[in-house]
Amino acid sequence: MPLTIPLNKTLYLALLALLWVLPSHAGPRQDQTGLRHYYQQLFPQLTLADYRNGVYTIDTVARESWQAIEEFPPYEPAIEQGEILFNGAFANGRRYADCFPDPGIAHRYPQWDKTRGEVLTLPVAINDCRFANRESPLSYQHSDMLKLQAFMAYRSRGKAIDTTVPEDDPHALAAYQQGQDFYYRRRGQLNFACATCHIQNAGKKIRSETLSALLGHTANWPVYRLKWGELGSLHRRFAECLEQIRAQPLPEQSVELRDLEYFLGFIGQGIPVSGPSVRK
Ligand code: HEC
Repeated sequence: MPLTIPLNKTLYLALLALLWVLPSHAGPRQDQTGLRHYYQQLFPQLTLADYRNGVYTIDTVARESWQAIEEFPPYEPAIEQGEILFNGAFANGRRYADCFPDPGIAHRYPQWDKTRGEVLTLPVAINDCRFANRESPLSYQHSDMLKLQAFMAYRSRGKAIDTTVPEDDPHALAAYQQGQDFYYRRRGQLNFACATCHIQNAGKKIRSETLSALLGHTANWPVYRLKWGELGSLHRRFAECLEQIRAQPLPEQSVELRDLEYFLGFIGQGIPVSGPSVRK
């Protein structure tokens, strides 16, 4: 008799995992509710906001060394330099501040851009501002690009992610769907989907690493990774996960990766921004 409860729970979770490794096509809101319910069963002690800190909300051992690093965060100089860049003048005398009167807007991205009919991310919005001011675009790996984002994310800390999918716009729905399909599709020589690790096996160990939940995966960028020895973007992290399963990498800010970010952003709607952050 004492065995029935844990057994039932395991069975229940296995069934839920089975359900949620398949994309539902039920609609964004149902997907969001379903996934949150799944994680709630898996990690009943966590609130939605807890997910802003990635794997460190789940792995208490890793959390301790992470908190120690966060006391003197290696991304701090980037925030200061980002602020200087943000307030500096372009050749025409205008500034980023003229495009973004409030720098604390990272929580609004990724967002559906109705005019363009595609997903707008913060790095693309930064380059749009440069374009409008006759400056050449920055490459997405450029340190200035990352510093600007570090400053803007810092000013957005605590603001709830506000990614929305206008359900009356078939193009927005299609972009969301593409992102979702990407997440659940098995690929690469290892034949893994993103969902295999971050949904089905969230909280479990792979080699020495605990797997984070997908909730909050757009909250903490840019990231100073100790492995990289520098600040990097969400799309760089996507590339690394794709590499790990020996799948084709995609260029930063490609339509595919922006759609993927859109799916993650919407599922994580309401989670507070915690960027910039530090990761192993
Ligand atoms: C083989 C397992 C595996 C697969 C498949 C995988 N990842 Fe990861 N991913 C990891 C590990 C391990 C980490 C580092 C620990 C963590 O944060 O989960 C990670 C980290 C991440 C992070 C950073 C989280 C943070 O808090 O900084 C993101 C975002 C991410 N993965 C997205 C993806 C996406 C999108 C895909 C599919 C293209 C994917 N992952 C596929 C194992 C995987």
